[in-house]
Amino acid sequence: MRKKIIVGNWKMNYTVSEAEDFVSSIKDKINVDFVDVAICPNFVSLYTISNILEGTNIKLGAQNVYYEDKGAYTGETSAPMLVSAFVDYCIVGHSERREIFKETSEMVNKKAKKLLENNIVPIVCVGETLEERESGKAYEVIEKELIESIEGILPDDMSKRVIIAYEPIWAIGTGKTASADDANKMCEHIRKVVEGKYGAKVAENIRILYGGSVKADNAKEILEKDNIDGALVGGASLKNDFVAIVNY
Ligand code: PGA
Repeated sequence: MRKKIIVGNWKMNYTVSEAEDFVSSIKDKINVDFVDVAICPNFVSLYTISNILEGTNIKLGAQNVYYEDKGAYTGETSAPMLVSAFVDYCIVGHSERREIFKETSEMVNKKAKKLLENNIVPIVCVGETLEERESGKAYEVIEKELIESIEGILPDDMSKRVIIAYEPIWAIGTGKTASADDANKMCEHIRKVVEGKYGAKVAENIRILYGGSVKADNAKEILEKDNIDGALVGGASLKNDFVAIVNY
């Protein structure tokens, strides 16, 4: 039985004091008995939020990382630095990183491996554009992006630690969600791709999330699907909606 996980991706929202206030207001309302929960604030809030989360079972995640340990990489943050801020999860390859900051799957792959080396769980995002979906190429695009992003990751890590997030780009922040059936079908396809590369056991264990306009009022139908093991929540994770999604 795969345990569900709900991850809040705050993106570039909340100053340190806003982040403190928000987390303080929701942390005791979140029921973490049956699901894993992680919130991913901006880098500057990570350490402060780690203190607020101490003593809860809510985990801390980052939204990005660089794949070198240290050195002359102005503006970047390394995996050991994330460890020092008590980070357990890190999103890599979000479509906003791929599109706006021109991250390639090769970079995403290096980041995922560096996180594993530092005992941080990578949440590897893949997603197709509307054009790719409409031209019938979504399955092919996702397969390629996934294979390139997980290249060389060991079976044991895939089975026990790596999380994959399917986020159709056209559904992110747009209010449009993939239908629960379409999302489930793509997550099933992702599981098959993992099975093809790593075998049935790894595919059975790996957690695959859906992300893209998940809200309190659509969480139930999405999370009920058998191939969807949780949600990566953007906009709704900045509000009390997040509590409702987790508690559902
Ligand atoms: P959204 O974002 O929930 O605001 O659509 C999801 C994401 O980008 O992770």
